Amino acid sequence: MKLIIAAFPPEKLPEVKQSLWKSGIKIMTVIDVRGCGQQKGYMEEYRGIIEEINLHRKVMVLIAVNNSFVEKTTKAIIKGARTGSIGDGKIFILDLYDCIRIRTGEKGVAAIGGDSVESKNLKKIEKVI
Ligand SMILES: Nc1ncnc2c1ncn2[C@@H]1O[C@H](COP(=O)(O)OP(=O)(O)OP(=O)(O)O)[C@@H](O)[C@H]1O
Ligand SMILES: [Mg+2]
Repeated sequence: MKLIIAAFPPEKLPEVKQSLWKSGIKIMTVIDVRGCGQQKGYMEEYRGIIEEINLHRKVMVLIAVNNSFVEKTTKAIIKGARTGSIGDGKIFILDLYDCIRIRTGEKGVAAIGGDSVESKNLKKIEKVI
């Protein structure tokens, strides 16, 4: 299992979400963050005072996936976030030691996604509707 962490500009979140959704990735955590990349900072004058603004608003999307989903997930994020300009964002991929669904005690791949019996039943209902 891997934990995919992507930081990118907040205005790209709708496109990234849509792209992930199209690739079948519907489970995620989104955090509002601030950060800077290799451009570090820039200077801005506000009411005569020059200050260094080096933290830009970004969103951080966290998605825990089975190994077979890593490429699909990163491709979907890139498709949604890439403009070709600086500041498009960055993706980190970490080994994920474990995952526990608190309600059921399921662990690992059984706990990571929407593959529980209930969610399969939910999918059947969605199809009927
Ligand atoms: N090495 C890093 N460690 C932690 N956070 C990072 C790192 N690199 C980038 N980030 C986060 O990702 C955000 C987006 O990074 P950004 O796209 O500016 O990367 P970059 O390396 O500067 O590439 P580019 O030259 O395309 O701008 C940053 O604002 C920061 O929050
Ligand atoms: Mg940058």
